[in-house]
Amino acid sequence: MDIKTVGVVGCGLMGSGIAQVCAEAGYTVRVREVSDELVQRGLGRIESFLKKGVEKGRLAPERLREVTGRLHGTTSLEALADCDLVIEAVVESLDLKREVYQALDKACPAHTLFASNTSSLSITEMAATTKRGDRFVGLHFFNPVPLMKLVEVVRSPLTSAESFERAYAFARSLGKTPVRASDKTGFIVNRLLVPYLLDAVRALEEGVASVADIDEGMRLGCGHPMGPLTLLDFVGLDTTYYIANIMFDEFREKRFAPPPLLKRMVQAGMHGKKTGRGFYDYRQDPPQPVAGLVNSPG
Ligand SMILES: NC(=O)c1ccc[n+]([C@@H]2O[C@H](COP(=O)([O-])OP(=O)(O)OC[C@H]3O[C@@H](n4cnc5c(N)ncnc54)[C@H](O)[C@@H]3O)[C@@H](O)[C@H]2O)c1
Repeated sequence: MDIKTVGVVGCGLMGSGIAQVCAEAGYTVRVREVSDELVQRGLGRIESFLKKGVEKGRLAPERLREVTGRLHGTTSLEALADCDLVIEAVVESLDLKREVYQALDKACPAHTLFASNTSSLSITEMAATTKRGDRFVGLHFFNPVPLMKLVEVVRSPLTSAESFERAYAFARSLGKTPVRASDKTGFIVNRLLVPYLLDAVRALEEGVASVADIDEGMRLGCGHPMGPLTLLDFVGLDTTYYIANIMFDEFREKRFAPPPLLKRMVQAGMHGKKTGRGFYDYRQDPPQPVAGLVNSPG
């Protein structure tokens, strides 16, 4: 069955980007948030992204009206009953996601495909709380969604081949490049990226080099657009710490274990760019490496 109407549950950072790319690709989109205020804030975020495109001459004003005209906000999960696909992008909490899926399972018809944008939770565990495990996949988008080309399409042992291919074709219809992954925590990208980021923190802890030199080394030596410690500041140290713990819990391997320095920085509220300080101090222009992260006392 063709996908014509897409539901997006959660209109935060990721949900708003997902809703935007779906509307841009021509789908009718129903966006669910928990309050009218959050619906308006989420839709407002999409509109301001598109308006910047108009200002820079990249987007015609009619196109903005056309895309925003396909987006419909709601605070009711039942309003997603006519959706052929529902993509969930609520906060990373298994309990909360479970609640959402159980309500959606009752509200949506049998053909509706469910997809989670989770970064670290088990697709299988969420699918098993519904009566449609065969019509349940992971669709893992990357931030910022309108700009990042990749989508990891994730298959659980319950997912049918038909649902998996339907989700893959859908990701492609958004102009994205999908890759297939199985339901192993971290999928492809975080599986490889998280140990690398944690190793950069370990290198700092062990006195291999300074914050600035670790970043410069990887930027210029490997051609990465930014160094690992800057990337950690952008992703959020709290988010990485959270994901690393889930991965360590799953695999019990040292490479996924968050190093003590990362834990201390999270405890100290140094979560990176969003809190003003992480490995760099963003209250300074340009941001400067934070001194004394690994110094001995005295
Ligand atoms: N931030 C990233 O870089 C990133 C990348 C890939 C995947 N993800 C995943 O995407 C999901 C969302 O992350 P985010 O960064 O957009 O978080 P966010 O905090 O920006 O947005 C989450 C939104 O969900 C809303 N919400 C909470 N409960 C809800 C409910 N019952 N119904 C509808 N909306 C509800 C919140 O009001 C909030 O606006 C998480 O599973 C996260 O792991 C995040």
